[in-house]
Amino acid sequence: MNSERVFSGIQPSGEIHIGNYLGAVKRWVELCDDHDAIYCVVDDHAITVEYDPSRLPAMTFDASLATMACGLDPEKCTIFVQSHVPEHTELTWLFNTVTPLGSLFRMTQFKDKARNALQRKLTRKEGGAMKTAIHNLKTLGGEALEGLDELKKDLDSLDPDTRDDVAIGETVARMNDRMGNIMQRLQVGLGVAEASTALFGYPVLQAADILLYKATLVPVGEDQEQHLELCREVAQRFNKKFGEVFPVARRIKSEAPRILGLDGKSKMSKSLGNHIGMLDSTEEITAKLKNAYTDPQRIRRSDPGRPEICNVFSIHGFFTEPDVRDELAQGCRKGTIGCFDCKKVLAQSMDAELAPIRDRADHLRRHKGLVIDALDAGRQRCSDIASQTMEEVREVMGVGHGVFAGLGK
Ligand code: TYM
Repeated sequence: MNSERVFSGIQPSGEIHIGNYLGAVKRWVELCDDHDAIYCVVDDHAITVEYDPSRLPAMTFDASLATMACGLDPEKCTIFVQSHVPEHTELTWLFNTVTPLGSLFRMTQFKDKARNALQRKLTRKEGGAMKTAIHNLKTLGGEALEGLDELKKDLDSLDPDTRDDVAIGETVARMNDRMGNIMQRLQVGLGVAEASTALFGYPVLQAADILLYKATLVPVGEDQEQHLELCREVAQRFNKKFGEVFPVARRIKSEAPRILGLDGKSKMSKSLGNHIGMLDSTEEITAKLKNAYTDPQRIRRSDPGRPEICNVFSIHGFFTEPDVRDELAQGCRKGTIGCFDCKKVLAQSMDAELAPIRDRADHLRRHKGLVIDALDAGRQRCSDIASQTMEEVREVMGVGHGVFAGLGK
């Protein structure tokens, strides 16, 4: 076995879809053959946005079951639930001390999620939300205006005839900083004040997930690249300050880094409802594909199409045999087959891959103990590794009950 340790995670915030599968989970399964692979259902991450506590346990169980149905074999890898190993949150706190605010502000997923959460609240016209939003906007707007005033002063102080490179450099750098600050405030705007601190710190928890196990390889889709960069930064900063404790993890790139949703526009995602669930029935797959976005230039069946820009055709790439795909592409280009026909073939080829996964899920649902026992074994193994890492971390940071050992009585 390759000694390198693989770590990855998935949120239990809705059903697992083909974007998760193609972008990550399928690769997770392959990696089990020759790596020490640890996979985590990240419930502590799922609670950083609005959620229903009474439904979370079932969702965490379902996500665990689905990953096992997709092919994760507890005999060949470790599967566990994040909150069952509390060291994840302890390490997050300690990592907060070496994580610059500026790095977190750069995280695009935070900005997106913060904005989406607020948008949902406002559309539901939740009491007070609009008022708070307007108040925040006024405050942020005021601060942004003040920043602009400062910027203007900097500009005025720039003498066009000056030859002083250092002074110019300093002023430009200051203006850049101010500009960045104003842009950030305006961009994050409304959403940021509403979002939870936990959502802001989300990537630190993700760094803790990976580094608690000193994993070096992280198979994830493209959307997680920035979070992984932060993980590398945290490891480097920690090591610099407290000594070499953590490896600097690398991302294992996916063959399907960004699967688009059925709308053909945004990333396939649970929250956008543009997905096909891994456990969807044949009928559900067929019905969802029926409305999937294709080449907008094809209005009539006989219109020549462009498979190279069609999202449905790109999904064929993961499920349909190459010779069948070639035939479909030719028919589409000539306008001899319609989108309906093309989607029908896709539904069949998807169903061929998903049916055995559904069957395994049914089996696991009838034998829930298989999932619960796997998670329990995973928790035990992970707790052992986590407690070793935490002993090391606490010692170099000078915290924890062990620190008095050297003082004598
Ligand atoms: P999550 O739950 O959003 O997604 C799980 C995995 O699926 C990938 N993915 C996609 N890949 C391609 N196309 C898509 N449309 C698509 N949608 C999702 C994601 O890239 C991810 O690999 N923060 C993480 C979970 C996490 C984690 C970790 C991952 C927590 N701790 C430590 C790695 C290591 C997340 O929300 O993934």
